[in-house]
Amino acid sequence: SVLEMEVEQINKGKYEHYMQKEIHEQPESLTTTMRGRLICGGSCKSQTVLLGGLKDHLKTIRRSRRIVFIGCGTSYNAALAARPILEELSGVPVTMEIASDLLDRQGPIYREDTTVFVSQSGETADTLRALEYALENGALCVGITNTVGSAIARHTHCGVHINAGCEIGVASTKAYTSQIVVMAMLALAIGADTISNQARREAIIDGLFDLPSKVREALKLDQEMKELAKLLMNEQSLLVFGRGYNYATALEGALKVKEVALMHSEGILAGEMKHGPLALVDETLPIFVIATHDACFSKQQSVIHQLHARKGRLIVMCSKGDAASVCPGESCRVIEVPHVEDCLQPVVNIVPLQLLAYHLTVLRGYNVDQPRNLAKSVTTE
Ligand code: AGP
Repeated sequence: SVLEMEVEQINKGKYEHYMQKEIHEQPESLTTTMRGRLICGGSCKSQTVLLGGLKDHLKTIRRSRRIVFIGCGTSYNAALAARPILEELSGVPVTMEIASDLLDRQGPIYREDTTVFVSQSGETADTLRALEYALENGALCVGITNTVGSAIARHTHCGVHINAGCEIGVASTKAYTSQIVVMAMLALAIGADTISNQARREAIIDGLFDLPSKVREALKLDQEMKELAKLLMNEQSLLVFGRGYNYATALEGALKVKEVALMHSEGILAGEMKHGPLALVDETLPIFVIATHDACFSKQQSVIHQLHARKGRLIVMCSKGDAASVCPGESCRVIEVPHVEDCLQPVVNIVPLQLLAYHLTVLRGYNVDQPRNLAKSVTTE
C-alpha cells in the first residue's frame, strides 16, 4: 500500500536499501552495543567489562571444561572471529559447531561444557534445536541474540543482548560486527585480570572505545568499493583468502557476496592454499586477500607472493601504510583499512567487503534486501 511504502521510506531515510543503511549505521550500532558495559574504575586507569546478564555465571564459565560456540551462517562466522581472543584470555578450550551439523552428528555435549548460542533473530530453528539438545545434556547455555524475548533469549540460562537495533535486510551486517564486539567483551569478562594480561586487556578496551570511529573511517571506502564492484560485476566467482583473526572475515565476506550479489564466492583459509585451492589460480579469477597487520602478516605476505607468481588477479586488503609491502606488482589492487588491535580487526575488515557485496548486488540488478530463496529468519530445520 501507499502507507507501507511511505513508512518504508521514512525508515530507510536517505538510503536506498536497508542493507546499505545498516552497513552505514555501524559506528552507531557498535556504540549502542558497548554502552554501559565498559566501566571506568576509579581514575579510569583500570577499566572493566560489565555484562549484567552474565555476572552470576562467570565463575561457572571459567571453570567449565570447554566453551562451545553454536550458530548458523553469519552468526557462526562472528563466533569464529571471536574464538582466538576467547581462547587467549579465558584459557578454556573453545570449539565451534554449526547448529545443524551438531544435530546431524548428535555430537557430544557434557554437563561441564558452556555452550554459547549466537543468533541475531534468536529464532533460527537449527540453533534452537541445538539449544534444546544442549539443555537435555545438562550444559550451561548462554545466549547472544539481538532480539529481546526471542526463543533463544528465553530458553538459555543467561546471556547478552547485542543491542544492535532492528536489522531488516536479510543479509546480516550490523548484527555481525556487534556480535563480535559482544564476544570480545565476553572474553574480557571471563579472562582473569592478572598482571600478565593487563597490558593486553587495556589495549583491547582502548581499541573498543576507538572502534566506532575506525569503522566510520572504513566506511569512507564506499566509493572505492563501488569502483571495484564495477570491475568485478561480470565475474563468475570471487575467492577470499584470510587466516587467523580474519579467517572469519574471508568466510563472512564470501557469504555476503553469494547471498546478495548471487555470485559464487568462497572464503578460504590461507593456510590451506597449497592443499588444493592453488590449482584454481590463473590470470582471470579474481582473488581477494586479507593481509592486515597482525602476527600472521609475514605468512600472508608469502601467500600473496605465491599467488602473484601464478599470475593471480589480486585485490589485497592491508593496514594503512602497508601498501608497498603487500603489493608485488602493478597489477595488484590495494585497499587500505585503519589498523586496530588484532582481535578487533575483523570488525573493521568486514566493512569494505559488505560494501563490495552491496554494490555488486545493485550493479547486477538483484534484490538487495530480499535475496531470492532466502528468509531473514530460518524457522524450519
Ligand atoms: C546472514 O547474512 C544470513 N542471512 C544467514 O546466514 C543468518 O546469519 C543465519 O540464518 C543465522 O541467523 P540468526 O543469526 O538469526 O540465527
